[in-house]
Amino acid sequence: MSESQPLTGKVAIVTGASAGIGRATARALAAAGAHVIVTARRSDRLDSLVAEIHGSGGSATARAADVATLSDVQSVVDATVDQSGRVDILVNNAGIMKIASITENDVDDWTAMVDVNIKGVLHFLSAVMPHMIERGSGHIVSVGSLAGRRPFPGASVYAATKFAVRALSWGLHLELGSAHGIRVTDIQPGYVSTDLLSDQPDTLAVWDEAWSGRRTLQAEDIARAVEFAVTSPDHVSVSEILVRPTDQPT
Ligand SMILES: NC(=O)c1ccc[n+]([C@@H]2O[C@H](COP(=O)([O-])OP(=O)(O)OC[C@H]3O[C@@H](n4cnc5c(N)ncnc54)[C@H](OP(=O)(O)O)[C@@H]3O)[C@@H](O)[C@H]2O)c1
Repeated sequence: MSESQPLTGKVAIVTGASAGIGRATARALAAAGAHVIVTARRSDRLDSLVAEIHGSGGSATARAADVATLSDVQSVVDATVDQSGRVDILVNNAGIMKIASITENDVDDWTAMVDVNIKGVLHFLSAVMPHMIERGSGHIVSVGSLAGRRPFPGASVYAATKFAVRALSWGLHLELGSAHGIRVTDIQPGYVSTDLLSDQPDTLAVWDEAWSGRRTLQAEDIARAVEFAVTSPDHVSVSEILVRPTDQPT
């Protein structure tokens, strides 16, 4: 293990790795020496990421899965354990955000956010936890949100899902930290320029206008926070990191 590659020998699963924060995190962990399993639904994007990581001298495997489907998730983890023998780091990053006034009463969007942002995290937790407990070590990182501390209008249900991630992370530290040597981190980004709102062009236009002339975060800014947490010494459990653009007034 070299100083520049502190994750050499480690195996990391990154969810939502086909875009944005997950893609940047996968690149960062691979550059730090980890073998990275990249997962999301769009396999063409996962394949191009793996090719890029291999091209940079890193190590990665693509495994397509829908985090809302427990059997998909279990297959990703089982194949990883079969091939690599371990899962050291899980980055629960896959997520969706549907912005709308609560009065629109869009139960389908609420359900979709619960399925991906909460159940997706629980599915991966369920699949990796037995392996981590057996080995007496592991690190579960989840990408929560500033909205998981402070809801904003139009994002009540999204915020609720991220409050859930924060509560779960807190509880996991209590139940898995001292008893099983497992570290837990909740990364809470403010506004990051990604594809998160690409399916909601009207909202995106409003946000773009509001942010005009101000600098948002880039996915790499969050990847750096994940890397900091997972490369901290084993006795250090970085519980939460809130990262906001300097220009973000909320
Ligand atoms: N951007 C921000 O300002 C911001 C702020 C705070 C927190 N976050 C959080 O950061 C995380 C990453 O978001 P991002 O901003 O990087 O957005 P993004 O560019 O839209 O990426 C979202 C990722 O989640 C994956 N995903 C969505 N639904 C999925 C499903 N059912 N199964 C598997 N993968 C799924 C997508 O892959 P596929 O479509 O290929 O499946 C994609 O890789 C999310 O949890 C988000 O809530 C973002």
